[in-house]
Amino acid sequence: MSKRIKLFLVTLLGLALVVGVVGCTGTEEKTTFNEIKEEGKLVVGCSADYKPFEYPNEEGEIVGFDVELMEAVGEELGLEVEFKDTAFDGLIPSLKSKKFDVIVSAMTITDKRAEAVDFSEPYFNAGQVIAVKEGSTDIQGPEDLAGKVVGVQLGTTGDLEASEMEDIKQVKRYEKITQAFIELRNGRIDAVVNDLPVTAAYIMDNPDVEIIGKPFTEENYGIAMRPKDDELEQKINETIEKLRENGTYDEIYNKWFK
Ligand code: ARG
Repeated sequence: MSKRIKLFLVTLLGLALVVGVVGCTGTEEKTTFNEIKEEGKLVVGCSADYKPFEYPNEEGEIVGFDVELMEAVGEELGLEVEFKDTAFDGLIPSLKSKKFDVIVSAMTITDKRAEAVDFSEPYFNAGQVIAVKEGSTDIQGPEDLAGKVVGVQLGTTGDLEASEMEDIKQVKRYEKITQAFIELRNGRIDAVVNDLPVTAAYIMDNPDVEIIGKPFTEENYGIAMRPKDDELEQKINETIEKLRENGTYDEIYNKWFK
């Protein structure tokens, strides 16, 4: 091979390397967050049956605290936010099969769930309360649920708590918590175990139900993501922190809880 041709080939090889390297850094890695950015849209799974966190208004649009919080997150990140309604006990499987990017559904951070998903930093504090039909006096606290029929939403922490209590006569699991409340008001079940803010909101609309005592669990809600989506998790945590600092979180909180 002549010297000239050799030089030419070496130069060509060098050029190819440079192009290759530049090319690689130029195209972003295929992470969920990069895909979301490319689409310009964050898809959120929720069980839209949980006023005031996520529920349909009269026009059938999903509204609530979680919805506005995620819309504010989307705005900060320059993303449109789309909500997909899914039964609560189907949320984690649907997240895993990529039907959406995150779950925001008043979902309590639990050790068991954290085996399957990663949670953001806590964004809301709540606890379980017992609700009974107004005027019933035989249930004064969790101990009195012995021998009673208790309604819960399937797959929730209320379901877990009631299922762990000894001597409960029966735990009735409903797809939506509103169904449990209707059964309570019709006298078909004795109590409902559910998150305080949601039970309190239900009672505002239906004063024939009342809360017994104080919350008997301490729970924190988190935004759930697939375990590998570290960049997304970091962005979401940073953004929620920012919304807390700049007053947006409080604004949304006051709108739904004051
Ligand atoms: N915080 C409870 C849990 O994580 C209840 C959540 C129910 N959420 C809903 N959108 N229905 O189990």
